[in-house]
Amino acid sequence: MYILGINGSPRIGGNTDILLDKALEGAKTKGAKTEKVILNKLKISPCQECEKVRDDGTCIVEDDFQALYEKVKKADALVLASPIFFGSLSAQTKIMIDRFQCYWRYRYILKKATSQKTRPGALILVEASKRGDFFNNAKSIVKNFFATIDVDYKGELFCPGVDTKAAIAKHPDFLQKAFELGGTL
Ligand SMILES: Cc1cc2nc3c(=O)[nH]c(=O)nc-3n(C[C@H](O)[C@H](O)[C@H](O)COP(=O)(O)O)c2cc1C
Repeated sequence: MYILGINGSPRIGGNTDILLDKALEGAKTKGAKTEKVILNKLKISPCQECEKVRDDGTCIVEDDFQALYEKVKKADALVLASPIFFGSLSAQTKIMIDRFQCYWRYRYILKKATSQKTRPGALILVEASKRGDFFNNAKSIVKNFFATIDVDYKGELFCPGVDTKAAIAKHPDFLQKAFELGGTL
């Protein structure tokens, strides 16, 4: 089983990064092969709303999204992790999601059948405040994204009240939950 972890935080070694590593560690102990992608290290332009899509459902814009798209398609399970920025997902995460418009168009406008099997997915969020509405904003976007790309929203971990870099390390409860979440996938 190949589990792909996607980190939408620009802070390497930050809270999202640590939580995602824990989740992937949990998956590894159950025998999964894992890979982590850090969106901030990729060159992915925002969707240009060109309304075009290649015959195989891929985006016509050539950048690092192409390789990520293949990884997402190949994954047997997905863990998406993002910090809350201004009440929602980070820009890095949202830009990646918008680029899947090619797949949305392929399925729902061009009505092309996909051979993609449904896989389980989980969402990890972290924020400084304790605003449930912020987590819910991000969750509703991700549920919609997951449904589009044939991912079943199977689990979530929301960590409020965590702000400074690596402060999550002082929350063993959250780390344990991330580990267990990875294992369930
Ligand atoms: C641009 C920016 C916007 C933020 N907006 C919010 C916010 O709306 N609500 C909140 O609770 N925390 C907000 N935060 C704090 C982060 O969510 C918090 O520091 C989180 O732990 C960062 O995770 P990371 O270390 O994985 O990047 C914001 C931080 C930044 C840099």
